[in-house]
Amino acid sequence: MSHVHHEKLLIIDFGSQVTKLIARRVRESGVYSEVHPYNKINKDMLEKFGPKAIILSGGPNSVTGIGTPRADNHIWKMKIPILGICYGQQTMCAQLGGAVESSKDKEFGRADLTVLDKSQLFEGLDIQEQVWMSHGDRVVSIPDGFKVIGTSQHAPYAAISDTNRRFYGVQFHPEVVHTPNGSRILKNFTHKISGFKGDWTMSSFKGEMIEAIKKQVGSSRVICGLSGGVDSSVAAVLIHEAIGEQLTCVYVDTGMMRKGETQQVVSLFKEHYDMNLIAVDASEEFLELLKGVSDPEEKRKIIGATFIDIFEREAKKIGGAKYLAQGTLYPDVIESVSFDGGPSVTIKSHHNVGGLPERMDMELVEPLRELFKDEVRDLGKELGLHEDFVERHPFPGPGLAIRCPGVITKDRLDILREADFIYLEQIKKYNLYNDIWQAFAVILPVQTVGVMGDERTYENVLALRAVTSTDGMTADYYPYSHEFLGETATRIINEVRGVNRVVYDITSKPPGTIEWE
Ligand code: XMP
Repeated sequence: MSHVHHEKLLIIDFGSQVTKLIARRVRESGVYSEVHPYNKINKDMLEKFGPKAIILSGGPNSVTGIGTPRADNHIWKMKIPILGICYGQQTMCAQLGGAVESSKDKEFGRADLTVLDKSQLFEGLDIQEQVWMSHGDRVVSIPDGFKVIGTSQHAPYAAISDTNRRFYGVQFHPEVVHTPNGSRILKNFTHKISGFKGDWTMSSFKGEMIEAIKKQVGSSRVICGLSGGVDSSVAAVLIHEAIGEQLTCVYVDTGMMRKGETQQVVSLFKEHYDMNLIAVDASEEFLELLKGVSDPEEKRKIIGATFIDIFEREAKKIGGAKYLAQGTLYPDVIESVSFDGGPSVTIKSHHNVGGLPERMDMELVEPLRELFKDEVRDLGKELGLHEDFVERHPFPGPGLAIRCPGVITKDRLDILREADFIYLEQIKKYNLYNDIWQAFAVILPVQTVGVMGDERTYENVLALRAVTSTDGMTADYYPYSHEFLGETATRIINEVRGVNRVVYDITSKPPGTIEWE
């Protein structure tokens, strides 16, 4: 689904792990950008896309290797500003007549940049800036027309510029948070050097997207799986605003939901937004299929497959639909075009309903494909969703099933639901909800001895988890006060039958994961 943006920046991806952060930083300053793999760039594509500026990303290869990626040579002739980052800088130098060699002084992590020229790219920066490097190769001679504007201990050409052609190159990564003034550098490139107005807003995106959805689906019917999470909810509200009655949403209560969640979803979408919403209570079906299953991957597979079965059943009941709407986000899209990352190990299979579109032979409507999570939240607010709703913590597709290690029973889920509810109430009471990325309780398959009144108890252990994170890829445990932990543990033990011990998980990710399963 493509639509018109007036000013666009093109990011040419050479396979760096952090390419998507470039897009994110650039968009934060109001400039619309898209990431495209280097091998999909050619003159036609460039002319069609019409970038006002280009950024070349980093990448895992060596410019000195034979057959390694290069930028399409048409970019140098477009008379638009180009910024090369790390591998991007190296290939820029190699392609324009400079030289790069493998260095034995590899530089990984924090480095000090000495700024030699504070005009343009480095405007507003100090003479000494902390930057983040990650390279083995380095530039050893620069092409004609370039000069050095910054150096570091192991990279004499850490930053270079050719102000006539408006070509810039940096060896370090301005897109990562470890380069504290990185956003400023990128903004200097987009606003000062390239002349972007920075007027890309969520409100303009919303209007363009609504038009694009109308155009794509015409008078056909669209069906959307609504989980109650932020992404599918925002997608549904946006599509509903575009095509109203033509949209039918299906919400499946798997029995693995948190307390009160199903009622909330029904009242918000059916009553408040007046959407066609089919809410299916399939909790018994799920519980039956999960009986005796304790392996986490097995749980995920059963839940994913059962969800698809039920969804398909419901879609048939309404007479089918030509389109399937999904809340796919930009990071999912970029990850799926990674071409050079090598084989990676599956830690957890998060693709809850993978295979749904193929099996149902439907075309996709994915209005959030270009957005990052925080942009989806902004769009949700723009669409009138309540702040509390759009700021909700992520909730995994398999729900409480993966917060109930060991076998799942209705009793255990009920205990977990009650305890989780109290835990979240406490977090809101202490005003901590928005400081935390995700917080939840886990009911452990362990019983311990306790004493309540004069009675011996032999009940379940509950673990509390809370983490801070920016993207769920890495996480730190949240440093609650002892007062908070003590009060919360006491409330849970007093108010929830079946729990007599509460522990707090202080594992970071890595080495732990956020969920216990
Ligand atoms: P982990 O546990 O892998 O979680 O550190 C990272 C983020 O992903 C969520 N998560 C899932 N989300 N289906 C989902 O939709 C899943 O199977 C799944 N497993 C983990 C987790 O809640 C966290 O936000």
